[in-house]
Amino acid sequence: MDQKDRMREMEEQQIRINDNVSRIKNKIVIMSGKGGVGKTTVAVNIASGLAKKGLRVGIMDVDIHGPNVPKMLGMEGRTLNYDENGMIPLQVTGNLKAISMSFLLPDPESPVIWRGPMKIQLINQFLGDVQWGDLDYLVIDLPPGTGDETLSIAQQIKGAYALIVTTPQEVALLDSRKALNFARKLDMPILGVIENMSGFVCPHCGKDIDLFKKGGGEKAAHEMNVNFLGRLPVDPNMVTSGDDGTPMVLNDEGSVSIRPLFEILDKILKKME
Ligand SMILES: Nc1ncnc2c1ncn2[C@@H]1O[C@H](COP(=O)(O)OP(=O)(O)OP(=O)(O)O)[C@@H](O)[C@H]1O
Ligand SMILES: [Mg+2]
Repeated sequence: MDQKDRMREMEEQQIRINDNVSRIKNKIVIMSGKGGVGKTTVAVNIASGLAKKGLRVGIMDVDIHGPNVPKMLGMEGRTLNYDENGMIPLQVTGNLKAISMSFLLPDPESPVIWRGPMKIQLINQFLGDVQWGDLDYLVIDLPPGTGDETLSIAQQIKGAYALIVTTPQEVALLDSRKALNFARKLDMPILGVIENMSGFVCPHCGKDIDLFKKGGGEKAAHEMNVNFLGRLPVDPNMVTSGDDGTPMVLNDEGSVSIRPLFEILDKILKKME
């Protein structure tokens, strides 16, 4: 392929991306400064919660090296189908569709050893060559930090809202301020901050224990002048529901994190609809 063909192909892909993105009403990008703070957990619960409310939702897993969305949605080991119009996202429930690097891998334990440009190309394909159709929401799960994937998403999806997940301790907060500043620099509107793993209710005595401190995310949100969406406590059911592939919002009515999850969902709907 010569230079001219390559340029034309890129232009055509950009047209497909713009066309696809224009059919998606609301886009939410789940970001964090640090790893392991609960982005994927939050992403699958928000996506499943919105779909449960009857909205048309897509979830796009852009964590290329550690794609966890399929496991948390019970979709591990599934592979993608294609037709003449491109990739067909996997149907999780009636109105929730998902795409992930993991659907392209021969087995979930194969590492992906890719450099930046290949990752950017994959993201462009996830945006331009996947048949998302008309969606009310697209929830995008990112790897931690502000690397190639985050930058590429922010540049390709104009108007995508950044949702920052943080844990309450100082080091995590320092990094989440970086994620907020990154979103601001790229002119992304900011949906708000979620403080995850905030406090723990002892199952034996019912006492509230601040495992990783508490309130730091809320304080940082106020200081940075962004919306605070809420706190999710440390909840053992959150771990089991992630491992079992059934997001909390779908079944664990008795769990301590259910109410805060639905309050967060309501705030998101209020802000975006
Ligand atoms: N509120 C919570 N209470 C208990 N466990 C939680 C909570 N939130 C997340 N976890 C657990 O913490 C682990 C990390 O969460 P998750 O994978 O969602 O984080 P992440 O930010 O997406 O990580 P990465 O940066 O690696 O992508 C998972 O095992 C998850 O089940
Ligand atoms: Mg993750």
